[in-house]
Amino acid sequence: MKFQTERPASWQSCGSCGNEVVETDPLPRCNLCQGLLEVRHRPPDVSSAELVRRFTERRGGPPGATASGVWRFREVVLPSAESVVSHPEGNTPLLHRVALDRWSGVDHLLLKHEGYNPTGSFKDRGMTVGVTQALRVGARAVACASTGNTSASLAAYAAQAGIPALVLVPHEGVALGKLAQTLAYGARTLLVRGDFDQCLRLVEQATTDLGVYLLNSINPFRIEGQKTILLELLQQLSWEPPNWIVFPAGNLGNTAAFGKALREAREWGLIPRVPRLAAVQAEGAAPFARSFAEGFSQRYRVKAETLATAIKIGDPASYERAMAAILETNGVVLSVSDTEILEAKAAIDAAGVGCEPASAASLAGLRRLVQRGAIGPGESVVAILTGHILKDPGLLLNYHQVMEPPPAGANRPIEIEPTLAALERVLGGPNSGGG
Ligand code: F0G
Repeated sequence: MKFQTERPASWQSCGSCGNEVVETDPLPRCNLCQGLLEVRHRPPDVSSAELVRRFTERRGGPPGATASGVWRFREVVLPSAESVVSHPEGNTPLLHRVALDRWSGVDHLLLKHEGYNPTGSFKDRGMTVGVTQALRVGARAVACASTGNTSASLAAYAAQAGIPALVLVPHEGVALGKLAQTLAYGARTLLVRGDFDQCLRLVEQATTDLGVYLLNSINPFRIEGQKTILLELLQQLSWEPPNWIVFPAGNLGNTAAFGKALREAREWGLIPRVPRLAAVQAEGAAPFARSFAEGFSQRYRVKAETLATAIKIGDPASYERAMAAILETNGVVLSVSDTEILEAKAAIDAAGVGCEPASAASLAGLRRLVQRGAIGPGESVVAILTGHILKDPGLLLNYHQVMEPPPAGANRPIEIEPTLAALERVLGGPNSGGG
């Protein structure tokens, strides 16, 4: 169907065949061709200057929905939503650390740290919109497959909304903090004897058959929320876009969301030009990077393997729209090894910033792009850190306490007797035996 007459404020449209359905249609895929749906908005009925004025006025405002770094942008996220399930979320900082300029090779690197969200990852931005929409369509339960962050976020927002949540996660490899959060917030948690790609296929079937509302990033309302990572970033930069935005990529929901945010922001006069996107995958989970290297002539599916478990995904669901995002922004896709990810993470952690392993892929990728000459040292770059350092304590303790030989960044703890002499020995004091 196509809307012929006056368009509603928002509707959904199929990215593959152009079929249009109403905003409140709960199915995640097009009912004609099974393509992924996208939310479309009528251009805001106020000027870009007025939009910027409203976004600025709401920033840091009193508690309430507009205090959210997602709902502050509601005219371009979900204008028709009247009551929203908001923590609030967003309002994440832009950080600058000289040590990380040096490490990555650019003169002035900014880090947008999405780990500062309420459940510790960017997923909260998509989930506040997704769970709001679930209530609007009268869903009786919500569900997702996850490598851990989506499930933690879904569990928290479903708990707030008072709606049951079902999550499917791989039985092995979900980082400790994420599994613990998911259980604590009260989601019904299924440990599936399979990988993320199998979890996603299974949950998609189940939600179609059981009428449960699916909240993976194939859900277009999640994408609307995740656009605000960039809207907020652009606002923090006074709507002056950087040259590059570098970020980790797995299921490609963020890549799709970033492409849409930039397309709309330019169409609606918020920015004069679009930055280039650089999506970074882990070498063992890099089907998108492989397609990019071959000019997107073919889509690949791989059996994923990486210690950055958040992006251990072999068959990314948002392939098509992510490809559009890369092509439209003259972007690049690359992959980095687990060793490089660990090195980047150690640098980010040692700068006092900290992030989870997958997030560090962004800096590892940036360093490669600088070394390769694809990004000049004087270009303005923002790297997105997607998750909090405490998401994956298991990997951290292994890195610092267990790995043999100790990696360069390892900070081994030292066990001592409860005596001053023992302490002095360690610190190289007078009783340290000549140290
Ligand atoms: N970084 C982190 C910390 C993530 O949790 C994810 C995805 C990504 C990057 C990649 O983002 O999928 O949009 O390309 N985590 C999902 C999950 C898959 O289930 O939590 P993407």
